[in-house]
Amino acid sequence: MNINELTLTAQAMTTAGKGLLAMDESNPTCNKRFAAHGIAQTEAMRRAYRDLIVGAPGLNRSIAAAILSDETIRQQTLAGLPFAQALADEGIVAGIKVDAGAQDLAGHPGEKVTEGLDGLRQRLADYRQLGARFAKWRAVIAIGAGLPGVACIDANAHALARYAALCQEAGLVPIVEPEVLMDGDHTLGMCERVTEQVLHVVFGQLQAQGVLLEGMVLKPNMVLPGLAAAQQDGIDAIADATLRCLLRTVPAAVPAIAFLSGGQSPEMASARLNAMHAPRRLPLPWALTFSFARAIQEPALALWRGEAGNVAAAQRALVHRADCNGAARRGQYSAAMESGA
Ligand code: 13P
Repeated sequence: MNINELTLTAQAMTTAGKGLLAMDESNPTCNKRFAAHGIAQTEAMRRAYRDLIVGAPGLNRSIAAAILSDETIRQQTLAGLPFAQALADEGIVAGIKVDAGAQDLAGHPGEKVTEGLDGLRQRLADYRQLGARFAKWRAVIAIGAGLPGVACIDANAHALARYAALCQEAGLVPIVEPEVLMDGDHTLGMCERVTEQVLHVVFGQLQAQGVLLEGMVLKPNMVLPGLAAAQQDGIDAIADATLRCLLRTVPAAVPAIAFLSGGQSPEMASARLNAMHAPRRLPLPWALTFSFARAIQEPALALWRGEAGNVAAAQRALVHRADCNGAARRGQYSAAMESGA
C-alpha cells in the first residue's frame, strides 16, 4: 500500500472549499432519469450528457473530483479526449463506481446486499490504467418495521471493508458509502440511531480488514426524517443530529466526509450542508463536504432535455449548483444565491 499516494489523493479529492460530483449513474439509472425528461436512452445521448457536464465552464471552481461509471470512463468527450483525461486537464480527480449494485439479501425480505467483489482486484487495476485515482462502492440500508437487521448491516459492512482494502492495495482511494435510505415514515431519531449503528459496524469492519483511515473518504447519508414522516424537522435539528452521529462514530483520522444527497431537493441539500458549518458547530475533526449526484445534476438535466441548443444553459445551472455547495461547505451559502441564478 502506498500510504503517501493514498493520503495525497484523498486530500486532493476533498480540498478546501470544493466537493465531489457523482456522475456515475449506471446505464439503467441514467436511462430512467433521461426517460423522466423525455430524453432518448442511448449510448450517444449518455455520452453527450457527460460531455455537457465535464465541459461545463468553471466546474473546477467548486468540484475537486468526479465519479464516473464504467461506460463513461471508457468513452471519449465529443472532442475525442478520454473523459478521465478531460477531467484531469481541469484539475479534477477522476474516480470510478465499482460495485455491481444492490441485490436482495437471501433470507431477509426487504433488505439488500451490494455485490461486486468477485474479480474486483483485476477491475481495479484496469480502472487505474484508464485514469481512475479513487473508487466508490454504495451499500443501501432500508429503515422499516424490524429493519434494518443485523445480518444486512454486517454483510454490507464486510463487503465495504473488503472493497476498501482492495482499492488501497491498487493505489485507489476508496469512497465508503453506506447509505441509510430516506424512504419511509421514520423519525429523525430513528435515522440517527440506525446511521450510528451502521457506521459503528462499518468502522469496525474497516479496522478488521486493515483499511488505512487516512486514505479513504466516507460518503454517508445526512441524518434525516423519512420522506413520508409526519414531522419534517428543521435545518438546525438535522445539522445537530447528523454531526452528533458522525462525531460519535467517525475517527478523526478519516480526512473527509462527503455526503450523498439521497433524494433531497438541491436547495435543501445545500442549506443543510451549510448549517453544519455554522461557526458554533466548528471545529470539526474532518473536512465535511458533498458528493452529490441528483442535488447537483437535476436542474441541469431538466434544462437540457437532450437538445444541443440548451447545453450552455444546462451547464450554467450545473455550475451554479456546484458553487452553491462549495459555498455551503464554507458556511457561506444563503438563499440569496438561489434568486441570483
Ligand atoms: P445522490 O446524491 O443522488 O444520492 O447520489 C449520490 C451517489 O453517488 C449515490 O451512490
